[in-house]
Amino acid sequence: MSSLNKITVVLVGVTNGLGYSIAKALIANPKLSVTLFTRSSEANPLLKPLIEGGATIKQVDYTSVDTLASALRGIHTVISTIFPVDLTPTRNLLKAAVAAGVKRFVPSEFALTEETNAKLDVYNNKKQFWEEVRASGLEYTAFRNGVFLDYFATGAPVKYEEAPLYIASFILNIGAEKNELPGTGDEKITFTSVRDIGEFVSAAVLLEKWPEELGMAGETTTLNQIVRDAEEIVGRKFEVTYVPAEEWRKRADEIGATGDWMGRFMCQVKALLAEGKGEIKPYLNEVTDVKPIGVKDFLKKYWGTRV
Ligand SMILES: NC(=O)c1ccc[n+]([C@@H]2O[C@H](COP(=O)([O-])OP(=O)(O)OC[C@H]3O[C@@H](n4cnc5c(N)ncnc54)[C@H](OP(=O)(O)O)[C@@H]3O)[C@@H](O)[C@H]2O)c1
Repeated sequence: MSSLNKITVVLVGVTNGLGYSIAKALIANPKLSVTLFTRSSEANPLLKPLIEGGATIKQVDYTSVDTLASALRGIHTVISTIFPVDLTPTRNLLKAAVAAGVKRFVPSEFALTEETNAKLDVYNNKKQFWEEVRASGLEYTAFRNGVFLDYFATGAPVKYEEAPLYIASFILNIGAEKNELPGTGDEKITFTSVRDIGEFVSAAVLLEKWPEELGMAGETTTLNQIVRDAEEIVGRKFEVTYVPAEEWRKRADEIGATGDWMGRFMCQVKALLAEGKGEIKPYLNEVTDVKPIGVKDFLKKYWGTRV
């Protein structure tokens, strides 16, 4: 395919695991011409394989709408992964995308739903920005993938090297003697690996129509099922206790009072999972050819081999 016929995509934010995985999948798609916006320079060794894969790197200044707009001229689709702790860079990006005549814009969602964003302090900026994206006049969507499956590799005998993602045990610590599970353990939760999120996003860029939400799933399952699978794979029994949503909310308030916003956020997420709000409709599984890894296969890959 000549470069003239390719869809021009800008991926914003590359150095963390999610952005990096999406970048890898975008550059592997021959129908796309890929530019990566980053605060890093081309000299960052992390970017070397992406440059070798054909990506153009642009070190951008998120404080200047004009500079961003000139870097976005001729671009069809902008995908942001910036975690909007501060909305300024993200807002400037949207303003620049409108000014530059970009067609499609993707805010950094990559988790649960609009409803759950409203109940998580840390995700309130996403909720606010979502309204601004809706009002922008651009075509837009939210990629929704549930919880990163990759967290189950924390502490595993096989080293996690799929992406430069910070992993820590969350919801279920496979290596621990005891685990507290949200709810009854039978609520449905969607898990997707960051590698597969990249594949789904790359395939979705080619879709002619974008609904408001593009959900995906590595697998939707329950924590009780995952515990059964993990017990089989690691060859020991897990000790689990079940903690209801109201207890997670109480803990969120107690931890929040100490100033630990991340601890509060984790408890708030677990409250939502305990209430059965962790399921994502897997639209992209139906309309693309991506074959994502499921939870049991992921566990086997990291916990099934002693090294
Ligand atoms: N579903 C899940 O389990 C789950 C888990 C974690 C995160 N997430 C979601 O995934 C998304 C990315 O999260 P993350 O933890 O990877 O975020 P992050 O590390 O804070 O940001 C992602 C990238 O954005 C760029 N960036 C960061 N701060 C920036 C700033 N102030 N100005 C401009 N660029 C900035 C960086 O790229 P450069 O260094 O290349 O500039 C960074 O690699 C978020 O929407 C988050 O909610 C979901």
